[in-house]
Amino acid sequence: MASVTSLAATVNQRVADALSAALPEAGAADPLLRRSDRADFQANGLLALAKKLGGNPRELAGKVVETLGTDGVLADVEVSGPGFLNLTVADRAILATLAARAADDRLGVPYAAHTGTTVIDYAQPNVAKEMHVGHLRSAVIGDALRNMLDFTGEKTIGRHHIGDWGTQFGMLIQYLIENPGELAPAADVDGDQAMSNLNRVYKASRAVFDADEEFKERARKRVVALQSGDAETLDLWQRFVDESKVYFSSVFEKLDMEIRDEEIVGESAYNAMMAETARLLEESGVAVRSEGALVVFFEDIKGKDDKPVPLIVQKADGGFGYAASDLSAIRNRVFDLDATTLLYVVDVRQSLHFRMVFETARRAGWLNDQVKAHNMGYGTVLGADGKPFKTREGETVRLQDLLDEAVQRAAEVVREKAQDLTEDEIQERAAQVGIGAVKYADLSTSPSRDYKFDLDQMVSLNGDTSVYLQYAYARIQSILRKAGETGPVAHEELELAPAERALGLHLDAFGATVAEAAAEYAPHKLAAYLYQLASLYTTFYDQCPVLKADTPEQVENRLFLCDLTARTLHKGMALLGIRTPERL
Ligand code: ARG
Repeated sequence: MASVTSLAATVNQRVADALSAALPEAGAADPLLRRSDRADFQANGLLALAKKLGGNPRELAGKVVETLGTDGVLADVEVSGPGFLNLTVADRAILATLAARAADDRLGVPYAAHTGTTVIDYAQPNVAKEMHVGHLRSAVIGDALRNMLDFTGEKTIGRHHIGDWGTQFGMLIQYLIENPGELAPAADVDGDQAMSNLNRVYKASRAVFDADEEFKERARKRVVALQSGDAETLDLWQRFVDESKVYFSSVFEKLDMEIRDEEIVGESAYNAMMAETARLLEESGVAVRSEGALVVFFEDIKGKDDKPVPLIVQKADGGFGYAASDLSAIRNRVFDLDATTLLYVVDVRQSLHFRMVFETARRAGWLNDQVKAHNMGYGTVLGADGKPFKTREGETVRLQDLLDEAVQRAAEVVREKAQDLTEDEIQERAAQVGIGAVKYADLSTSPSRDYKFDLDQMVSLNGDTSVYLQYAYARIQSILRKAGETGPVAHEELELAPAERALGLHLDAFGATVAEAAAEYAPHKLAAYLYQLASLYTTFYDQCPVLKADTPEQVENRLFLCDLTARTLHKGMALLGIRTPERL
């Protein structure tokens, strides 16, 4: 494994060195190298620098050009405009760097300079409740972020903070005690049946709860029994959890996502820590008693009437809620799991909750400069009408139905294009294309933004979709198959056509893109990179015959570009959690 320095980084360093030689006062100034239409790269940093130091920008640029000179890497450098540099690299240098990438399993992508342990809180549905598109986003974004972080060398630990605790369980359990047999053992049902059973029990118990004051009282007592660890109550609670897990895992399986059982650590898991969490906060004065409750106040968080909105650690009746479980989870993640970063992938509508929880943990000393917490708050999934995604009846859309429909649409697309695929193969591809489409649509927009759930657009063959990328990949595989005995070989002595250079330079930027996307928690930057890669490949394919190129060397060299493009697409898509079928 050898990490490869990209040409952009090499050139940037050389310009920086030339700059400090030409203008020692500049120190280690960044020449701000960018890809450019006029040459391969443009250095934009000289202008501001010369102005700042009171020199003439064009003169400075001229000096830098002189110091730089040209060689095997830099083919041409010239001053442009008021003091920019246009830089062109040698074809040979492009092919050499790509050959080094191709020789490495990791495509030359370096590990991050500083790594630690990130505990990532994602895919956290609620027990006895239907999953909705919000849970889909958390799962899809969380999984992609985790793949990206793992790839950069970070150690990641997943935490699925499922909602498996709270007062509603008193109602559910009490109902089950009074109506035994309403919930079949989890082992006997599939995911769909599990959810419909849970839904039925939920609705029925809710109805009794709302209508019958005495039942309400019994349900309330049941909560106390649950919290104090009463065995029969816990047994029944466990049945709800198990039944829900059957349902969750069927959805995650459909999503083609690995969820490990030992990482499903819900709110209930922190129950035993809550009292101590409260005690620590109270003793340190971080939390104070107010009207019987234990709360934390914040200077800058105020409600409508300008009254401070506190975080409630413990309610006046002694009960603990969502905040207490999150604060306890922080202690566990920091002190037992040795996390250096706590990452949460949770709906942006919970951002105030996290602001208060993080600030409380900071005051308590659990978070500090060495251990940071961040909520990757994501936006809302909207329907075609631009309103939060709901059924026509205004209900939340069943996630399974949504995924099934995506796969069905994908099957139509795959079937239409299928040339040599059997019906089984079409179905298998349809799942990879349909689920890929749903994931890609989510990941290609910045997480913080809302996006429209539009299946027609998602499975379209044209435009910024996963199917477009998957087709580009499959098309390359078909060329490589057709090439037969002839394999991909880089020939560094060959001159490159413009479309080859553009493709090559973009391939060289893969490592920098992954590093940036991982460091910024920005999967959409990786998605944008891959879309551009497929587009540049399409142009290359239109302009440069591969198997019918002029010379055998050129055939091999173009096969080399094809192969590296395919491997880069495959790796990039895998980081996003999306499959790339060999044939489509
Ligand atoms: N179960 C919650 C919900 O459905 C999300 C949990 C987020 N994670 C956390 N540590 N609070 O809204």
